[in-house]
Amino acid sequence: MEIVVKDVHKYYGEYPALRGVTLEVPKGIFHCILGPSGSGKSTLLHIIGGVDKPTKGEVVVAGVRLNDLSDDQLAEFRNRNIGFVFQLFYLIPRMSILENVELPLILRGVPREERRRLALEALQLAGLGHVDPKKKPTQLSGGEQQRVAIARAIVTKPRVLLADEPTGNLDSATAKVVMDTFLNLKKQLGITIVMVTHNLELLPYCDRHVRMRDGKIVD
Ligand SMILES: Nc1ncnc2c1ncn2[C@@H]1O[C@H](COP(=O)(O)OP(=O)(O)OP(=O)(O)O)[C@@H](O)[C@H]1O
Ligand SMILES: [Mg+2]
Repeated sequence: MEIVVKDVHKYYGEYPALRGVTLEVPKGIFHCILGPSGSGKSTLLHIIGGVDKPTKGEVVVAGVRLNDLSDDQLAEFRNRNIGFVFQLFYLIPRMSILENVELPLILRGVPREERRRLALEALQLAGLGHVDPKKKPTQLSGGEQQRVAIARAIVTKPRVLLADEPTGNLDSATAKVVMDTFLNLKKQLGITIVMVTHNLELLPYCDRHVRMRDGKIVD
């Protein structure tokens, strides 16, 4: 299993955001999480990605037991293994799309030529091979901007891609383009994808899905 979540509870103060979540995701699977607002979907994604820590329970991702890691080790783990994509794309408007995608590599100290090569490869994988990499994000459509964000998330070759409502700001045709991008990444990189969505139209793209309610998985 690429992701194992065992009886995870998460309290924010007194408030139980997660109340005993157990989930297993095999490697290379596109796994979707559905459920109403406030049911704990983002909280679960953050715990899988090592951004947040469970109050109780065990989390193993890419063979690493996250409970055992210090904050520094968690940061290192995220940097190596996890890519994040959000509803808002969080691209830097003054930078070109190529520079946006290169950012995580700059943080890793990858030399310029290598950065450029990897960023262009990631843009290609995200289905943006035809777009001028010198363009600014605002010169692209919403779907293209989200695919730049996806390219940035995969440029470090993560094992796991976590996506929180990645199509929440996109119309349904554009959402499908983004889903095709995910399917392509799964096929070409064997990456494991966990996606939170409200959109039932996207279910056919998911290999598996679960529903959450009140901090629990209900089916
Ligand atoms: N940092 C926090 N501090 C306090 N409460 C929080 C915090 N983060 C989330 N919560 C609470 O935990 C519950 C679950 O939040 P979460 O963001 O996981 O829901 P969600 O399923 O992602 O909802 P949505 O579909 O609206 O994004 C909510 O009731 C929320 O108010
Ligand atoms: Mg959420």
